[in-house]
Amino acid sequence: MNPTQPPTAPSPSAFATRCVHAAQQPDPATGAIVAPMHLSTTFERDADGGYPRGWRYGREGTPNRSALEACVAELEGGVAAFAFSSGLAANMAVLELLGPGDRIVAAREGYHGTHRQLEEIVRRRGVAVEFIDATDARQIERALDARTKLLWVETPANPLLSITDLARAADLAHAVGARVVCDSTFATPYCQRPFEFGVDLVIHSGTKYFGGHSDILSGLVIVRDDPELAARLAEWQSLAGAVLAPFDCWLLRRSITTLGLRMQRQCANALELAGWLDAHAAIERTLYPGLAGHPGHALALRQMPGGFGAVISICVHGDAARALGVAARTELFRRATSLGGVESLIEHRASVEGPGTLTPGNLLRLSIGIEDPRDLRADLARALA
Ligand SMILES: Cc1ncc(COP(=O)(O)O)c(C=O)c1O
Repeated sequence: MNPTQPPTAPSPSAFATRCVHAAQQPDPATGAIVAPMHLSTTFERDADGGYPRGWRYGREGTPNRSALEACVAELEGGVAAFAFSSGLAANMAVLELLGPGDRIVAAREGYHGTHRQLEEIVRRRGVAVEFIDATDARQIERALDARTKLLWVETPANPLLSITDLARAADLAHAVGARVVCDSTFATPYCQRPFEFGVDLVIHSGTKYFGGHSDILSGLVIVRDDPELAARLAEWQSLAGAVLAPFDCWLLRRSITTLGLRMQRQCANALELAGWLDAHAAIERTLYPGLAGHPGHALALRQMPGGFGAVISICVHGDAARALGVAARTELFRRATSLGGVESLIEHRASVEGPGTLTPGNLLRLSIGIEDPRDLRADLARALA
């Protein structure tokens, strides 16, 4: 199978321009081009008791958080964004919309931490949780009912990179009055813009591509167009308190400056490596939506106009020990969990997920970085030999 070039990339220059300039102005007080960092947790009241500058207390909002959230809302095309101290804290803000007697339908394939939240926190609250294969619209349709408040999908999904049809999922959910949440961490708005397909809420682990350097734990929730929902999330963010600190907001906004550039390079590296891995004799299957043989390829061509992302899973011939042996021999690919950083990582996913995992033991997940693809290929060739 040959990797297919993505179709018309969504004017990457426009995206790259927004990454640099969205919600970013020279500082009015000093003219500084780089936004200053405001560490203060409290803000002065006027003599009349008002807060004319808009900020009162750090948990409720800070200048750096507002700037970051405005930038993320613009990149994703929503009306409001909320920054949290991790991706899972962002998930919890959305899962708070569910109460006893409600129901959530969620994709079976997805980040295992999200599944644990659903099983160990949400279900205990008296919420019915049903897992389905979200690549099968009939399963979604059968699972949705009048009690269903949320349909939760992740696309591309962990760890098989399956692709969910967002437009179809949104139509089905809206027909029963449910909202659709898409964890778009693997794609970022460079590759895919879920709101254009009718999705109501987008989630990102900002720890991954938005941060891009494996040094900021963060989560983002973006609301497409519902001000009431945005107000509820703002209230939750302030009251639950798992907010992103000013330094992390500043650093994340700085990282976003290069998001377009990094994604362009990482997606191109991944597409090239996936084609080569797919033809390698030591590999049983290569899972990457950019490959013509991937079950979600046709859909990805429509839904991910910017590229197919930079995560590739490979199943090596043999068992878990053989996969761990391959990971043990890489030098440039660092053995570590996570993804989205500038450095390439390799991980044996089943042993990270632990007992009960559905991930095949012979699967290795590769997060492709910005290195020279020839070096990455040579490193994998050595490890697979
Ligand atoms: C797709 C996806 N969503 C959410 C998360 C959770 O993010 P965090 O680790 O920032 O809490 C992860 C973490 O790996 C992830 O891969």
